[in-house]
Amino acid sequence: EDESGAARFQALLDREEKIEPRDWMPDRYRKLLVRQISQHAHSEVVGMLPEGNWLTRAPTLKRKAVLLAKIQDEAGHALYLYSACETLGTSREETIEALLDGRAKYSSIFNYPVPTWADVGAIGWLVDGAAIVNQVMLCRCSYGPYARAMERICKEESFHQRQGYEIMIKLAQGTPAQKKLAQDALNRWWWPSLMMFGPHDSESTHGNQSTEWKIKRRSNDDLRQHFIDMTVPQAEFLGLTVPDPDLKWNEDRGHYDFGPINWDEFKAVLKGGGPVGRERMAARRAAHDDGAWVREAAIAHAEKRKARQHA
Ligand code: ACO
Repeated sequence: EDESGAARFQALLDREEKIEPRDWMPDRYRKLLVRQISQHAHSEVVGMLPEGNWLTRAPTLKRKAVLLAKIQDEAGHALYLYSACETLGTSREETIEALLDGRAKYSSIFNYPVPTWADVGAIGWLVDGAAIVNQVMLCRCSYGPYARAMERICKEESFHQRQGYEIMIKLAQGTPAQKKLAQDALNRWWWPSLMMFGPHDSESTHGNQSTEWKIKRRSNDDLRQHFIDMTVPQAEFLGLTVPDPDLKWNEDRGHYDFGPINWDEFKAVLKGGGPVGRERMAARRAAHDDGAWVREAAIAHAEKRKARQHA
């Protein structure tokens, strides 16, 4: 271990300054970052699939345009994140390969089916809402390229969250049948959204080390509680019921108490890909294969330009 490098690394952390790509860093710090950032990038990529399925069925042209913009943002987020991994010495090809051959994890949330338009609303409201809560803390991550990517991503996420909530408002204020669609979607997405924050702190493998190195700035349980406290009043505004009979404001704690999370389901989703995991990965592999000619053409074009410049 490089002693002066280690001391400087710790000093940067202590002063709340960013670690940059050329700085010395412990090998485990680099590995922890590549793991988290690549999982995050993959989540953005796989997250495009369930919504992409709804593009042809969005109820109006305007909704379609908005959804298309949101999905394009997600592709952009994945690109910033893959680039952040590259600054740590892991190539984009390597990371993408790990996703395609099933070695890499991505967020559990994208392995649930999206049966109605109301689910598209619930995803924007709850899934993007949870993503923001998690990512706002990552803007203060000690690794510069990741923290800076997060700032831009958070701004776009907040538009995503509002487009989802606005779909929910329209449905909740609509006909009884529309309101039921909204309630059913909330029932489907509530618990999986809480699982997005990861296992309880006591079960979190990387939590302590990540916190010590200021990669994560708040714990899984802390962020989950914050999300619940923020979201319950939004459900009340919609006139919808959160599907948790134990949910109750706790005056002493100043937080909502909530019922037990089904971690067996979480583990099963991580292991088996959940109800639609296989389908998601098949769609991603097909998209990758179908896009091969575009990548080849782009490379051929770049080479031609380079040859022309040198001529
Ligand atoms: N889905 C899939 N895997 C998960 C999830 C989840 N919701 N939560 C935790 N895990 C995995 C971890 O990746 C880790 O697996 P690994 O050891 O094989 O890498 C394991 O469960 C244990 O969890 P923790 O030790 O608590 O993991 P960590 O400290 O990384 O905390 C968290 C998890 C909070 C998700 C963190 O990785 C993070 O902040 N990531 C960045 C945000 C992100 O990835 N968001 C993706 C969804 S949002 C979106 O894309 C719209």
